Amino acid sequence: MALPLTSDQPDRSAPPAAREVARTFVVSRLGSLFALLPLGVWTANHLWNNLAAYNGAQAWQTAVTGHSSAASTALTMTVVLVPLLWHTVWGIVRMFRTRGSSARYFGSLRYWLQRASAVGLLAFLGAHLWLAWAQPRFFEGHAEVFADIAHEMRFYTPTLLVYILGILAIAYHLANGVWSFFTMGWGIAVSKSAIRWLERVAILVFLIMLAIGWGAVYGLYSRAT
Ligand code: HEM
Repeated sequence: MALPLTSDQPDRSAPPAAREVARTFVVSRLGSLFALLPLGVWTANHLWNNLAAYNGAQAWQTAVTGHSSAASTALTMTVVLVPLLWHTVWGIVRMFRTRGSSARYFGSLRYWLQRASAVGLLAFLGAHLWLAWAQPRFFEGHAEVFADIAHEMRFYTPTLLVYILGILAIAYHLANGVWSFFTMGWGIAVSKSAIRWLERVAILVFLIMLAIGWGAVYGLYSRAT
């Protein structure tokens, strides 16, 4: 039986204060939004740029590592790393909090694959950001060199395997993420037909990301010297 409220007990049936709503939006909704924009779009573009490997070292270097100024380098870092960090923290919190209840709505295989790919991505992105970005740029004083990454891809099998699996994880995580963003995340697609239609979009996103990403890996592999 519910006890009557006394003056010092908060009334939990009252609508949450505007500040609380704003806080929930910033912490939770931005973690979801950032995953798609700018992170998802930037990731797709980054994989696409890597296809320049087919046009040789100079073209790859310009497309992937070239920045017109220090300001554009800083801007890229902010636009990519801040949302990535935000989304990663948001994702880790959700992994611990949403077990069970989300699975009921998500379809458990996809639910678990989304989380497994997130863990794979965390490991892959940690290694990739360190070896291909931070170490060459900040410790060796230059951007990643085409000949180095292509050589690793061709002659060091663990690197090739990590990139193949990392891209598989990105393709799945982003494609399924697009589906969950528009359906459960933001409730933009609610009707059965819209949800089914989005499933087809997600499959298409998965295949396109996989083709571009693995295509880029093969481009580097085949141009190694
Ligand atoms: C390239 C990097 C990444 C991209 C592009 C990306 C993209 C996305 C997208 C679009 C969603 C759907 C958001 C929604 O449903 O509202 C999502 C969900 C998720 N992401 Fe990521 N993500 C990335 C990295 C990570 C990392 C590193 C982690 C943490 C280890 C992570 C953990 C999660 C989790 C747990 C979900 C599911 C949340 C839920 O539905 O409850 N993601 N991601």
